[in-house]
Amino acid sequence: MGEGEWRLLEPAEGMREEYLGYIEEFRAAGAFNHQDHREEVIRDFEGFLRRCRDDAAGRNLGGTRVPQANWWLFGGGRLRGTCRLRHRLNEILARHGGHIGYDVRPGEQGKGYATAMVAMVLEKARQLGLTRVMLTCKKDNPASARVIVKNGGVLEQECWWEENGRRLLIQNYWIELPQ
Ligand SMILES: CC(C)(COP(=O)(O)OP(=O)(O)OC[C@H]1O[C@@H](n2cnc3c(N)ncnc32)[C@H](O)[C@@H]1OP(=O)(O)O)[C@@H](O)C(=O)NCCC(=O)NCCS
Repeated sequence: MGEGEWRLLEPAEGMREEYLGYIEEFRAAGAFNHQDHREEVIRDFEGFLRRCRDDAAGRNLGGTRVPQANWWLFGGGRLRGTCRLRHRLNEILARHGGHIGYDVRPGEQGKGYATAMVAMVLEKARQLGLTRVMLTCKKDNPASARVIVKNGGVLEQECWWEENGRRLLIQNYWIELPQ
């Protein structure tokens, strides 16, 4: 873990530039995390924050979307990673996505941030009353699988998933959360 104080915070005003830098670092590394809402963040960060708050409260969800809380990990004033907790699964999340999602800034990977972040989100899930949560990762993402296993994940099954015309093998893990 990096040095200095680090905290898991809800996205808020004043974090726009850090978040845009975070998205840009993924893009420059050839990974496309968060690119889907980059334009919205540039155009209307307030609206983006409102949507995060609505998602967390389960307001204006529409379609098959489920309530989801977002947190950003800050250390030394810098955004290190982001994570989210879906309050329940829908049909899609039950195969690919699960309850918890996370990523760490490419330049900060391999320092234990994701492992610590997931541990913190598990505590939030427990506080929400969940007794077990599902986490998924692509079979070819050993770093993510390791993060899950280090947090007590047990592999339940592997299933195929089609994304942009590609077939991906997805691992489904469960973590028990004794209350
Ligand atoms: C997956 C991800 C979140 C991991 O973040 P991180 O902060 O680097 O993770 P940590 O440092 O906490 O732990 C990584 C673990 O994976 C291990 N690891 C890394 N690369 C690995 C590899 N190629 N094979 C096996 N293990 C690997 C590390 O050694 C470490 O385990 P250790 O502590 O036992 O040594 C990060 O790589 C990322 O953001 N990737 C892009 C987004 C993503 O894939 N998100 C997850 C979607 S399921």
